[in-house]
Amino acid sequence: MEALAIDGGVPVRTKGPIIEEDVIDQEELTALMEIVNQKALRRAGATIEYERVIAEWFGVKHAVAVSSGTTTLHIALAAFGIGPGDEVIVSPYTFIAADSCVLEQNAIPIFADIDPDYLTLDPQDVERKITKNTKAIIPVHMIGNPTNMDAIMDLAAKHNLWVLEDAAQAHGATYHGKKLGTIGHVGSFSTVSGKIMATGEGGFVITNDDDLYEKMWGYSDFGRKKSLGPASKYHWGLPISNYRITNMQAAIGIQQMKRLDDLIVRRTENSHYLTEQLSGIPGIEPFRTPPWGERVYYYYVIRIDPEILGCDMLNFALALAAEGIYDTQYLSTTRWMIPQHLQPVFVNKAGYGGTKCPFECPLYEGHVEYYEGMCPEAERACDEVLWLIPPHPMLTREDLDDVARGVRKVATAFVEKKAKGIKVDYATEEHQALL
Ligand SMILES: Cc1ncc(COP(=O)(O)O)c(C=O)c1O
Repeated sequence: MEALAIDGGVPVRTKGPIIEEDVIDQEELTALMEIVNQKALRRAGATIEYERVIAEWFGVKHAVAVSSGTTTLHIALAAFGIGPGDEVIVSPYTFIAADSCVLEQNAIPIFADIDPDYLTLDPQDVERKITKNTKAIIPVHMIGNPTNMDAIMDLAAKHNLWVLEDAAQAHGATYHGKKLGTIGHVGSFSTVSGKIMATGEGGFVITNDDDLYEKMWGYSDFGRKKSLGPASKYHWGLPISNYRITNMQAAIGIQQMKRLDDLIVRRTENSHYLTEQLSGIPGIEPFRTPPWGERVYYYYVIRIDPEILGCDMLNFALALAAEGIYDTQYLSTTRWMIPQHLQPVFVNKAGYGGTKCPFECPLYEGHVEYYEGMCPEAERACDEVLWLIPPHPMLTREDLDDVARGVRKVATAFVEKKAKGIKVDYATEEHQALL
């Protein structure tokens, strides 16, 4: 057996682990410098052009570019009219923004479990969670995998619910040929660094609904009414805030939209290559594409089998990190090792102003608790799904070979250790504290 680096052997890779990286080229730099030279930094012409380019690429009527893929979710829920006493069905296996946005509207997040094969909402559990208070569903197209949207849209039609697609990780993925984000009432995207396209911070919503568009635009800009034109400047019809993006981000965003098809193709090629290289490794399962669409690859994730490997995900990740192919900064809880419904904000019902509002809002006619066992598949995913690498376009075949060699080496060694009855336990108190 080749000695693992964590046991004192030679690491597979010494160049440093693969981390998130954006494709920023001369086109982005030139576009940015133009805006800076024109001293046109705040939202204006470039942002309008960015929104036009986004809408054209997705084949929709409207786009609103805003400050993040979190504020996108907020303006969409606000435009739907979600408020105190309402329930919104959300995913327990996602980034917190897709759940906490519900709290921003003083409404109640209700968690439905995920489909373990694709990490997206399980429509059957969504149906079980619908009550008379339910107003909306937020399917998150996790890791770039399309949710089973027909099933979600059928439920929405039957119960008169809004659907907000969180496609922050899924630019360009499709469901039965339709681009994600164009199926629900609103599609939400993030362009934070590391995402499939990036503007540093940023996000955008898309919709075909004129009324939702006007409202979302207003909610992103002090409640102004866009249709009033210049007269809207000092006309505030809606509560809310300033979620505007700058022309600098928009200028970069326009260039990123131009190269989006290529960014998607290169991530897909890298991921398909890695899937080939990882095949046949004991205890390692790459994720399949759902039969109902084409996925994109925001992240390359694998499911590990703790039984076969004789270890938990923390030990597997630590051994990979020692081989130089995994970045331990991803060991933090933000990297999915605690499902969202078990995060302190929900379990402790940490509300605004030190109260338990909105969870125990007097306007809420239901009752909610968040507890272990509520979403078993999401809980299992947090124990078994390892976010291995971002398969970004700059990676070479050598980088991907390193990753595959490292995974094969660690998995093979752990299986052998298990067969010999050697217990694997590399986690120190310091590591545990990261979780
Ligand atoms: C699924 C999902 N939703 C929302 C967000 C929030 O986006 P942002 O970081 O741009 O606020 C992210 C990631 O960052 C995400 O992965």
